[in-house]
Amino acid sequence: MLLLCTLFFAFCTSTECAKILGIFHIPGRSHHQAGSTLMKILAEKGHDVTIVATIPETNPPKNYKQVLLTGIYDKMQEDFKKENFFETEMPPLIAPIFFGMKMTSMVEDTFNHTNFQKLMKSGEKFDVVIMEEFNAAPIKYVAHHFKAPLVVYNAIDANEWVNPYQGNPDSPAYATNFYLPYTSSNMSFYQRTMNSLFYVYANLVRVFFTIPYQNRMLHNYYPDAPHLNDMIYNVSLVLLNADPSVHDPLPKVPSMINIGGFHLKKPKALPKDLQELMDNADEGVIYFSMGSNLKSKDIPIEKRKLLLRSFSKLKQTVLWKFEDDDLPDKPNNVITRKWFPQNDVLAHKNVKLFITHGGIFSILEAVYHGVPLLALPVWVEQQINSKKASNDEYAKYIPFKKLEEEIFMSYLKELLRDPKYKENAERRSRILREKPIPAAEAVNYWVEYVIRHKGAPHLRVAALDLAWYQYLLLDVAAVVIGLLVAFIYAVNYCSSILFRKRVHKKQKNS
Ligand SMILES: *[C@@H]1O[C@H](CO)[C@@H](O)[C@H](O)[C@H]1NC(C)=O
Ligand SMILES: *[C@@H]1O[C@H](CO)[C@@H](O)[C@H](O)[C@H]1NC(C)=O
Ligand SMILES: *[C@@H]1O[C@H](CO)[C@@H](O)[C@H](O)[C@H]1NC(C)=O
Repeated sequence: MLLLCTLFFAFCTSTECAKILGIFHIPGRSHHQAGSTLMKILAEKGHDVTIVATIPETNPPKNYKQVLLTGIYDKMQEDFKKENFFETEMPPLIAPIFFGMKMTSMVEDTFNHTNFQKLMKSGEKFDVVIMEEFNAAPIKYVAHHFKAPLVVYNAIDANEWVNPYQGNPDSPAYATNFYLPYTSSNMSFYQRTMNSLFYVYANLVRVFFTIPYQNRMLHNYYPDAPHLNDMIYNVSLVLLNADPSVHDPLPKVPSMINIGGFHLKKPKALPKDLQELMDNADEGVIYFSMGSNLKSKDIPIEKRKLLLRSFSKLKQTVLWKFEDDDLPDKPNNVITRKWFPQNDVLAHKNVKLFITHGGIFSILEAVYHGVPLLALPVWVEQQINSKKASNDEYAKYIPFKKLEEEIFMSYLKELLRDPKYKENAERRSRILREKPIPAAEAVNYWVEYVIRHKGAPHLRVAALDLAWYQYLLLDVAAVVIGLLVAFIYAVNYCSSILFRKRVHKKQKNS
């Protein structure tokens, strides 16, 4: 018996099969995909995972427990129906406030959900809590509640949702703002000015509006919780969905790790009909998908007609992820399906081009397989990704709202004709594939690292202990400038006395 016990513990120490809670409360397909993939990576390593999610997994592993926030995904879809994102545009000045409120209401939906409340009252123990940050600071309370270290997953590269809380340098001279369509290399003077002003604005909104607003919401549900400001800086590790193959490089303190590409999988065999179809496409295949949140069927009718007219002029076969049963006026070379196994399609040697909305998961999949892109971004973040891909010359992009037939057609032709796009995509692919440890392994390694080192406080930079004016060295600057002014004043004063004395002497002598 003793031997059995020792054996058991030898096989299963707390870091080897830890209890991990993941909170992925955002009711969007790609956010769910990220969360469930992260938690499955950890489950495959033998950890006991519990995920708070809005979309159920149909075939979960047995050590993958789901706390479902039922009803929230449908509610979100209803909200989505009211707005057509292919047409609406949000002014950047409104965006930080709007997102702050919208994302807080999603956290509130979570806090108010019976299944979540049961989990909070369950008395369960967790070795680490992982959450998705997306203006979702009140969720940090969950880690405090379970007395576990906190790991944050950020769906985008280092930005204002995570930088202030890790003490990460984020100079607006080149670190661009999430809400502005700029890339960090090559900002013009005007763009740097706007980026800097917006940086100040977004941080003021965060400190004086969003955090107090979220703190009030938190205390409605958990009156005994500490103030949000006492918890938001308590993040052991940030996992960033970023990679130098597709993002501009940015500084990262030791508690921030790139895991971009963690969702990538080796391609599987295609369904037989699709395999045949793609094998037989002698002129090549163009794959077209606007991702999982945006639906191609909602594309405004004139734009849809424009796309179909353009495709009819091509020799290539076009595979279009289109969610309706029929598509009127569909040319013969266009094949629609409600869903394609995207990763497996992109892996096929006949794929010449991917027309995409520019979501980061799609871009990473294309880059992984070395496929050039024509991006039609709808939201700012997609626009930034697309612009970056275009800067790196494996893509062209047209913001969806500015889509016009002539330019669309000319980009299509150029991308299909000029081999440089394919070569650059393959170069990016080599960057993405070369890593000391694969991204999915890194997720597991770093989560276990945080558990092993009890929150890894040794990674915290001292910037977090400074007041803002100390961090900006305003106190030092004030003293130095003060001394300098005093010195100049003193020199001035002394020299004027000497000068006066000398004049005095001269007057006496003469
Ligand atoms: C919280 O949930 C209850 C039902 O469980 C509902 O009646 C109430 O409106 C919800 N409150 C908020 C703020 O969503
Ligand atoms: C912050 O994290 C540390 C280490 O995980 C923990 O001991 C401390 O209680 C946390 N503070 C709050 C306010 O949650
Ligand atoms: C930087 O911008 C200038 C002017 O807009 C452009 O000519 C140049 O090609 C850009 N360079 C890169 C690397 O994007």
